[in-house]
Amino acid sequence: MYLVFLGAPGAGKGTQATRICEKYNIPHISTGDILRANIKEGTPLGVEAKKFIDKGLLVPDEVVIGLVKQRLGEKDCEKGFLLDGFPRTLEQAKALNEFAKISNAINICVDENLVVDRIAGRRMCKCGESYHVSWYDKDTCAKCGSKLYQRDDDKEETVKARLEVYKKQTAPLIEYYKQMGVLSDVDGAQEMNKVFEDIVRILDDNN
Ligand code: AP5
Ligand code: MG
Repeated sequence: MYLVFLGAPGAGKGTQATRICEKYNIPHISTGDILRANIKEGTPLGVEAKKFIDKGLLVPDEVVIGLVKQRLGEKDCEKGFLLDGFPRTLEQAKALNEFAKISNAINICVDENLVVDRIAGRRMCKCGESYHVSWYDKDTCAKCGSKLYQRDDDKEETVKARLEVYKKQTAPLIEYYKQMGVLSDVDGAQEMNKVFEDIVRILDDNN
């Protein structure tokens, strides 16, 4: 399984990716998570990436393409992987095509109003789990017990910019993967387990 998850900010890519990777035992590669880890560690990549992420803009293509190419070359990616948040531009998609063959692109579709609410209520854990205040009222992670936090780029102004960037630069990838014959739409507005079941059905039918 060589998977790509598409969808607007807050669509539920990370939430579903964690579960899908657990079920099929493939690595979850989230460019957002890798960049945030670099910011936290204060690496040169992190310092550079922060300038863009804080404004809701995309980190330059050459930076993320290099990052993903290197990661996909690692041994654990040989039998499959799930890319969450990559590709995000046509340039990235074309580059990915040169070094990997994608078997499924899952497009998680959610209305704009819903994603704004989801992002506003999202609470993150450093272990990768994410929660929403509407169904989780504790401030520590149910899996590892660490303290939950809100992402820096989840402020209202930044979220608006991220949505605009998504519409202009990332939404065209839906057509790109449709042309390649690997795209499936999933209704991301449904309850989480239902979204999960729909994705599993698509993957089990196609692989
Ligand atoms: P990234 O980390 O990829 O953020 P994003 O795409 O904006 O997406 P999110 O992580 O916000 O949303 P999600 O779809 O994962 O939703 P989640 O599952 O958490 O990127 C951040 C930044 O890094 C970018 O802006 C850019 O600057 C940079 N970057 C990253 N990749 C890049 C690239 N390739 N090129 C250039 N720059 C790049 O769910 C959201 C909330 O909703 C949670 O609270 C969750 O609990 C809840 N929820 C999820 N599903 C459901 C459901 N079915 N019902 C109810 N609630 C739900
Ligand atoms: Mg995410």
